[in-house]
Amino acid sequence: MAIAKTEASGGHQLLPEVLAFSSSLALDKALLLEDIVGSLAHVLMLAKQGIVPKEVAHSIREGLVSICEEARAGSLKLPEEEDIHMAVEAELSARIGAPAARLHTARSRNDQVSTDLRLHVRESTAEVLRHLSTLLEVLVSRMDAQGTLLLPSYTHRQRAQPVTLGFWLASHGAALARDVELFGFVLKQLRLCSLGAGAIAGTSLPIERAFSAALLGFEGPTHNAMDTVGERDFGMDYLYAASRLMLHLSRLCADVIDYTSLEFGFAVLDGEIACGSSMMPQKRNPDIFELIRGKSGRALGNLLSLMSTMKGLPAGYNRDLQEDRQALLETGPMLNSCLQVLGLAMPRLHFDAGRCKVALEDGYTQATDLAEALVKKGMAFREAYQAVGSLVRRCQEAGIFLSKATVEMAKTIHPAFDEETMKGLLPENSVMHKASLGSCSPEALWLQRQMLLDAAGLAQTLADEVVGLDVLYAKLKEVDL
Ligand code: ARG
Repeated sequence: MAIAKTEASGGHQLLPEVLAFSSSLALDKALLLEDIVGSLAHVLMLAKQGIVPKEVAHSIREGLVSICEEARAGSLKLPEEEDIHMAVEAELSARIGAPAARLHTARSRNDQVSTDLRLHVRESTAEVLRHLSTLLEVLVSRMDAQGTLLLPSYTHRQRAQPVTLGFWLASHGAALARDVELFGFVLKQLRLCSLGAGAIAGTSLPIERAFSAALLGFEGPTHNAMDTVGERDFGMDYLYAASRLMLHLSRLCADVIDYTSLEFGFAVLDGEIACGSSMMPQKRNPDIFELIRGKSGRALGNLLSLMSTMKGLPAGYNRDLQEDRQALLETGPMLNSCLQVLGLAMPRLHFDAGRCKVALEDGYTQATDLAEALVKKGMAFREAYQAVGSLVRRCQEAGIFLSKATVEMAKTIHPAFDEETMKGLLPENSVMHKASLGSCSPEALWLQRQMLLDAAGLAQTLADEVVGLDVLYAKLKEVDL
């Protein structure tokens, strides 16, 4: 117990309560593979540099691999230690004896934990990108299947203008496409390796940081040891990206929750994704969408938690940093489960074209198109806007919706209204006649569809560029010593 103690630090005894209080092992057990992979790269570098003899490195590697294999078989019991790094070292020592004492040469837990976390966040980011790619493809296939269905759009949660289902899907997709870029940035922030920064000032031993960095799939070593051990920028960037993505998902979910309510009635949840009520037999609840919306709060909390931990820390390593663990380890699985379940749920959302059409006709969503039709005839926009406003008012007084307005009625308000302008009352014309880039017209939407597919492709490429932990482990297990 407590192998990181010397006579200078008060001997080997640590109050059990103090060990329990200060241990992060319960959480960072999840970093076992990262820790072992990092140690394998470190010991290979030490051997190459002649800092530890090859036989020692060989036996350290064998020991680390046996620990990892046992963990995979589910039979590993780690010793009670302060963290995963000490637990692995203590276990290694129990297995191979004296050679284990050379593993921690030219290394500190301060650079080790940063390395483990970088590996972990990188792996998680690749997984997020894979799920994002799939979800973008799901949105595009929904666009292809039912993209032309007409429904109202909303501003201030009041019916605004007619759009298509494809346009609504693409609007959420556009946010996800930006998230792909953001996670690409997170990967850039993760391109350097902390290993070899030591406790704070590097080491006097002749290590080669570029070598271990390359073994771990990084571009090179970090620039400044003092900065390296005390920063978690990569973690904050990752948590910000995760929060923003979760926030986007929560907004998509908010729409679905509304659309599947009886009040909107635009869509029905498939039985496979609808939850029931324990008391009300009629319920078909959108629980999964509410859960995703709820979890987005946790993602945001995790970002704030890490940022608050970092604020005001003096240079170099501070134990406060151990409090990064909860936020960094919890967010990835949560985010990935949300992405995965949405990928399953979106195709199981059945839109009701008839109900959506009724919502378009029962209202005044075509008013802007009518005004623009008058503008096309040469009228000043403000004049057209006033004329259509008066027509809407007239309809309201007559108790009819705009779709029921007649040319005769319109002409009493302004002589410029004619059969041609009144065609703007048809929701399909409203959509077809949009002429601007980024609009809901079929041509504009085609470009958006292409952009979403490009983003899906980029997400996949970025994910594929990350060397997975399993691949690293398999390589480092075999690489020549
Ligand atoms: N337990 C710490 C963590 O996991 C690493 C140890 C840092 N160094 C130290 N001297 N306590 O973040």
